[in-house]
Amino acid sequence: MPFTIAIDGPAASGKGTIARALAHHFGFAHLDTGLLYRAVGAKGGDPVAAARSLTPDDLARDDLRSARAGQAASRVAAIPEVRAALVEFQRRFARSEPGAVLDGRDIGTVICPDAELKLYVTANDEIRARRRAKELGADEAQMLRELRERDARDVARAVAPMRPAPDAVLLDTSEMSIDDAVTRAITCAKEAGA
Ligand code: CDP
Ligand code: CDP
Repeated sequence: MPFTIAIDGPAASGKGTIARALAHHFGFAHLDTGLLYRAVGAKGGDPVAAARSLTPDDLARDDLRSARAGQAASRVAAIPEVRAALVEFQRRFARSEPGAVLDGRDIGTVICPDAELKLYVTANDEIRARRRAKELGADEAQMLRELRERDARDVARAVAPMRPAPDAVLLDTSEMSIDDAVTRAITCAKEAGA
């Protein structure tokens, strides 16, 4: 039986960094599910058709990390048919041997409700904006507005809203270095049997 780790949380909380480190540590596959929604948003045209025909090339575009792509992603992510079109691929990925780490917004609640470990990673929004602004070379105040708008949309949508699964371990990285956050996550995974 593969071991599945589900990581959710708001923008720039550090979930991708933790997911990559966990996958590396345990030799598991990693899927950044946000990239799927970013690719659908960036493709343009009918988002439902885009989600149904997503290819590896779509995921390799070099403009997907921008704030603009993040905003477009959160708009198409509210469309139920877009989410439905992406479920099967994510669930199949989650069954990778010997294990898989998926990070996003609805992994612990919708995609992998039976994951062996669920983490919900948070950090206060000013710290998240500072981290993301530094990463993208963008203005911090502008980034704070962008993240708040996107988080609000992700929390309020009717289908698969962003929220911690009842059995998720909460990890607030506001005051944590990357090393501390990764060490905590590895400890949680070992306790869960990884
Ligand atoms: O995947 P998510 O959007 O949640 O965040 P990320 O891409 O893992 O992290 C956003 C930025 O914050 C990256 O530049 C990380 O290096 C940084 N970071 C940090 O400074 N301290 C942490 N404890 C975690 C992430
Ligand atoms: O890295 P960051 O947290 O800023 O964003 P992301 O994980 O790449 O996700 C971009 C957008 O895709 C989010 O704001 C969500 O609207 C959407 N998303 C989602 O709805 N469900 C997921 N499992 C992953 C992302």
